[in-house]
Amino acid sequence: MTAVDFAENGSWQESLRGKTVGVGLTGSFCTMRKVLDELKRLKSVPGVELVPILSENVQRLDSKFGRAAEWREALAAMGAREPILTIPQAEPIGPSACLDVLMLAPCTGNTMAKLACGITDGPVLMAAKAHLRNQKPLLIAPASNDALAANAKNLGMLLNSKNVFFVPMGQDDPERKPTSLIFDAQMLLPALGLAVQGRQIQPILRQY
Ligand SMILES: Cc1cc2nc3c(=O)[nH]c(=O)nc-3n(C[C@H](O)[C@H](O)[C@H](O)COP(=O)(O)O)c2cc1C
Repeated sequence: MTAVDFAENGSWQESLRGKTVGVGLTGSFCTMRKVLDELKRLKSVPGVELVPILSENVQRLDSKFGRAAEWREALAAMGAREPILTIPQAEPIGPSACLDVLMLAPCTGNTMAKLACGITDGPVLMAAKAHLRNQKPLLIAPASNDALAANAKNLGMLLNSKNVFFVPMGQDDPERKPTSLIFDAQMLLPALGLAVQGRQIQPILRQY
């Protein structure tokens, strides 16, 4: 079965049935609604538990794309667990090995850079470090204006890291934002369904 078949025939749902999915949300506010829409679809898969982890910026910043409180309300409305908001709350993800898969969606350039460099100064990064120590899959959905510039080296390091997988991504506006890459929201759940099995969906690069 090809990855495209996997995306189209609903196999991702089977793969995620009954799984506990951590979701690290970071401050790409323009893509937040897309992620929340996909999380709602994910929550409708039987037995799926959603464990949100909010970066400090997601917890406190209002922007033209929405208020900080809105993201929390949307997660609560879809039946996600109480969000993890601090480093001490995220740390037990390591010893308890409670997540089957963790996705960082949306994942900012900032969080990607810190993850690539082993920096753990917030709840999402703590969750990623704790989860990776258990050699379990981490899926990244990048959304960054500098992914093909200052952050390209970090993206490269993560592409070459064990147990790290990517949502397919592409240049969303090559003319006006020539170094920007954004994940394909339609491929988020199929990519997650394969990542939970330790597999990378292909192709990783797509054209918008
Ligand atoms: C309105 C708004 C939209 C933003 N969109 C993005 C984005 O799409 N990608 C990105 O990497 N950073 C974006 N940023 C910048 C991040 O929020 C900023 O780098 C922040 O430090 C990220 O912190 P976090 O990764 O801990 O959430 C945006 C900021 C604002 C105010």
